[in-house]
Amino acid sequence: MNKKEIKSIAINTGGGDAPGLNAVIRAVVLSSFNRGWKCYGIREGYNGILQPDEYPDGGIVELTPDSVRGITHLGGTILGTTNRGNPLNYPLKQPDGSVKEVNRIDEIIQAFNERGIDALIAIGGDGSLHIAHEISLRGLRVIGVPKTIDNDLERTVITFGFDTAVSFASNCIDRLHSTAEAHRRIMVVEVMGRYAGWIALHTGVSGTADAILIPEIPYDLEKVAEKIIEREKLGKHFSMVVVAEGAKPKGGTVSVLGEKEVGRAERLGGIGERVARELEILTGKEARAVVLGHLLRGGSPTNFDRVLSLRFGAAAVRGLAEGRSDCMAALDPPYVKFVPLSQVAKRMKLVPLDSDIILTARELGITFGE
Ligand code: F6P
Repeated sequence: MNKKEIKSIAINTGGGDAPGLNAVIRAVVLSSFNRGWKCYGIREGYNGILQPDEYPDGGIVELTPDSVRGITHLGGTILGTTNRGNPLNYPLKQPDGSVKEVNRIDEIIQAFNERGIDALIAIGGDGSLHIAHEISLRGLRVIGVPKTIDNDLERTVITFGFDTAVSFASNCIDRLHSTAEAHRRIMVVEVMGRYAGWIALHTGVSGTADAILIPEIPYDLEKVAEKIIEREKLGKHFSMVVVAEGAKPKGGTVSVLGEKEVGRAERLGGIGERVARELEILTGKEARAVVLGHLLRGGSPTNFDRVLSLRFGAAAVRGLAEGRSDCMAALDPPYVKFVPLSQVAKRMKLVPLDSDIILTARELGITFGE
């Protein structure tokens, strides 16, 4: 525990945005203000520090209760975010035109020291929390807040943003059911989630899908086709298939969009269309693919996500006041606890195959294409 008095802290949002980011920011700013601390926001991940000239306000801005008024329900992030500017592998253009990845973490520490900022609250997923961990290893006090619609972070029961994404996706499935039935079609709905199937699984179960394809269970489409044909025989002339963007066939690979760029994660996508085309061949039925994509990241957070985000933000500041560092606020109902960043950074929480929701899906007759 580091009990040295805190006078000012910084906050940033990194990686893909998720509904609830603004609620966390509000909770952090108000909780700091009420302790007499100053709070600064860093623009777009760490870009506000690494590329200050790109921002009219210099890239680091003081946040007051006025700055965060009326933002709890807003999607996006008032600070902006990026999934490109990882300071550990920062893509820098070289004189010969090539791009080289460089480590710029010391510049971040220097910027904090120059401004007298005592601690950082980093809101992000596994990548951002890995950066946060590295920063804390260099002596700065850091607390992470678990953000991602994908829910693929270790050591927290849930991340904020997930509930909103699943609620919206389920709503889309409800709408797609009627058009699927009207046209006697197979509807294949592709959802985000990276290499984990949380969004697909929860959406498929709540939206009463007939098949759910997730990365944790490589699929055999023949099995999905069997299910669709069986439904056909029972007079159910439409079927709903939810597929995670990271799903792959048995012995096959994930579908990616283009070549991997330097300093960026592989972009997943295209599996929905692929599954739809193959199911048409296997079943003789017409299929349509719908990609929900970034729609899942937009809009207002659900009430669950608002409250969770506010709890995480307030807990992060409380944690700093208690002298904590190098840890993440995590939901362990009914508590928000603190877990070491090292146990979260660069890790991925996949859906356990023996989890209750998998069993539930099977018992409801949903196939995973096994
Ligand atoms: O991690 C959140 C996420 O939305 C993933 O589900 C998805 O694969 C990725 O981000 C997409 O990122 P981008 O904003 O680069 O398209």
